[in-house]
Amino acid sequence: MCGIVGYIGTKAATSVLLKGLKRLEYRGYDSSGIALLNSHLFVCKKKGKIASLENELIDLKTDLSGYTVGIAHTRWATHGEPSDLNAHPHVSSSGKIAVVHNGIIENFPLLREKLISKGYSIKTQTDSEIIAHLIDYYVCKYEDFLTGVFVALEKLEGTYGIAVLSEDYPDRIIAARNGSPLILGVGEGEILIASDASAIVEYTRRVVYIDEREVVDIQRDSYQTYDLLQKRVDKCVEDIDWDIETIGKKGYDHFMLKEIYEQAESIQNTCRGRLLHETGTSRLDGLNLKNEDFTRIERIILIACGTSWHSALIGEYLIEEYARIPVDVEYASEFRYKNPILTPSDLVIVISQSGETADTLAALREAKQKGVHVLGVTNIVGSTIARESDGGVYSHAGPEIGVASTKAFTSQVMVMIMITIMFARKYDMSLETGQLLVEKIEKLPNLIQSMLDTAHDIKKIALIYSNASNFLYLGRGVQFPVALEGALKLKEISYIHAEGYPAAEMKHGPIALIDENLPVIFIALKDSIYGKIISNMQEVRARGGKIIAIATEGDDLIRDYADHVIYVPQVDRMLSPLLTVVPLQLLSYYIAVERGCNVDQPRNLAKSVTVE
Ligand code: AGP
Repeated sequence: MCGIVGYIGTKAATSVLLKGLKRLEYRGYDSSGIALLNSHLFVCKKKGKIASLENELIDLKTDLSGYTVGIAHTRWATHGEPSDLNAHPHVSSSGKIAVVHNGIIENFPLLREKLISKGYSIKTQTDSEIIAHLIDYYVCKYEDFLTGVFVALEKLEGTYGIAVLSEDYPDRIIAARNGSPLILGVGEGEILIASDASAIVEYTRRVVYIDEREVVDIQRDSYQTYDLLQKRVDKCVEDIDWDIETIGKKGYDHFMLKEIYEQAESIQNTCRGRLLHETGTSRLDGLNLKNEDFTRIERIILIACGTSWHSALIGEYLIEEYARIPVDVEYASEFRYKNPILTPSDLVIVISQSGETADTLAALREAKQKGVHVLGVTNIVGSTIARESDGGVYSHAGPEIGVASTKAFTSQVMVMIMITIMFARKYDMSLETGQLLVEKIEKLPNLIQSMLDTAHDIKKIALIYSNASNFLYLGRGVQFPVALEGALKLKEISYIHAEGYPAAEMKHGPIALIDENLPVIFIALKDSIYGKIISNMQEVRARGGKIIAIATEGDDLIRDYADHVIYVPQVDRMLSPLLTVVPLQLLSYYIAVERGCNVDQPRNLAKSVTVE
C-alpha cells in the first residue's frame, strides 16, 4: 500500500527520500513522487518503479543538492488509475502546499465541489488532491500553517496519514494520522517521518509512534505533537530493536527466499523465554490474562485476513483438540459488518503480521466496543493493533519484506501452539504431555532446517510443473489450512490459479477439474486419517491427475500413489504445520522464479492492506 517518507535536516533530502521510498517498495505501489522545499517547492512524480522517478530527476538536470526538506510517496491506486498525474505529492492550485496521503477520504466528492466553487482547480482523479487545496484554503484564511492544517483535518471524513509542506513555512513539515500509521524518527540534527520504520532505521533507531488522531509539527531540530483538539501531547522516544542489516537480502536472490530460510531461527525467536520445562507450559505475560479469566472464557474467536487467517484456522484445530475450548474463526472483513454476537465469556484474538490491516483493526475495535477482552498477535512492535489490544503476543519473526508472508506465518502458528499449550495446561493436559511438547518444540528448528535442506529436490519438482495453469492443494484436519496457505502462496507470486480444499471434500466438486494437466498436492502424513487420504489420492490417480505428496519420512507405501514425494520428519501433529508448509513455500517460490515473476513485489498486492 501507499508509503510516506519525509525528511528535514542537514543532508540532501533527495537521496534520503529516495532511499526511504526504496525501503517502502515492498509494501506494493504503482507510482511515486517527491516534493522538495527551500524558498520554492520542487515536485516530481512518475508512474511505475522508483527507478523511473530517479531517472526523471536525472533527466531534469536540476541541482537538488541544496534542498534539505522534503516529502515523498509511493502510491497504490485506489481512486484514479496509476499515472504521473495521479501520483503524490499533490500541490494546491496556488502552488504553495504539497501533500502526500495514505488512506481514503470518503467525503472527497463533496469537498471537491466546495473547493471548485472557491476557485480551486482539480487536476487529478484522486481523493487525495483535495487535501492540498483544503489546507491551502485554511492556511490562507487563518494565516498560520498549523492552524490551517488543524481546521482542514476537521473537514475530512475517512482515513489519513499525511505529510504536508508549505512554501510560506520552509523549515517545517506537518504530519497527521487518522487510521494510517506514522512514525517519527529522531536523529542527530535531523527528523524523519514515515509510514513504516524501515524507511527511517538507516538514519536513527530512536522513534516516536504517532497515535491515532494526532498531529506533529516538525521543525529543523524539534517537534511537537498535538491531539486533533490542538492540545499538546508529550510522547516518549522509543528504540527500535532491529537495524538496517536486518532488512537486507543477505546474499539471497529475493527477500522471500531469505525469509523462508530464516524460519529455523525465527521460530526460535518466537519461543525465546516463553517455554517452561518444569511446568510443561508456555508463558505469555503480554496476554494480561488472570486466573479468573481462564475460568470465564467459554469461547475463543480468532479474527484475521489472508495468511494470518490461515494461522487462525490452525489455531482453531489445535485449541479445540488440545484445550477443548470452542473456537470460531472469522474473516476480519466479514466480522466487522455482521454485528457479531459476543458475550462476556468470549475472548477475541486478532492476528496480523503488520498490525495495521484495516479490516482486522476495525474488527478489533468492534469487539472492544462490545466489551470483549481483545488480544492481538502481531509481528510489528508498536503497531496500531499492538497498541489498541488489551493484551497480546509479539510473534518476533523479525521484519518481513517479501509481500508473500512466510516466516511471519510460521511464527504466528508458533504463537497459536503456545497459546494452545497454555490453555490446555490450565484445563486437562497433563504435566507430562506438556513437558513432552515443550521438548519437541525445542527440537523444531533443526527439523525445519532439514526441510530447507531439501530445497534442491523441491526446485526440480517446481521446474516440471511451472507451466501448469491450475493447482489443487488438499489436506485434512490441521493440514487443511496448510493446503489453503500453500495455494495462496502460489497464487500470490506465480499468478497460477490454485485452490486449497479439505481432501475429502474434493469429490463434492473439484474432482471435476482433474485431468492429466492438473498437479494435485496432497499433504498426507502418517496419522489417524492417513488411510482416508490415500483413498483420496487414488481417486485423483484414477482420473489421470499428477500427484505431489508431502509425506512422513519412512512412508515408502505412498510412492505407489504419488508421482513425487517430499518427505517431512515425523513430528507431533500439533507441530506438523510448521514442517509441511515449508516445502509448499519453496515450491511456490521456485515456480514463480521460473515463470519470471516479481517474487518480492507481486502485481496488485500490498504488504499491509491499510484500506478497506
Ligand atoms: C500473505 O502472503 C498476504 N500478503 C496477505 O494475505 C496477508 O496475510 C493479509 O493481507 C493479512 O496481513 P496482516 O497479517 O498484516 O494483517
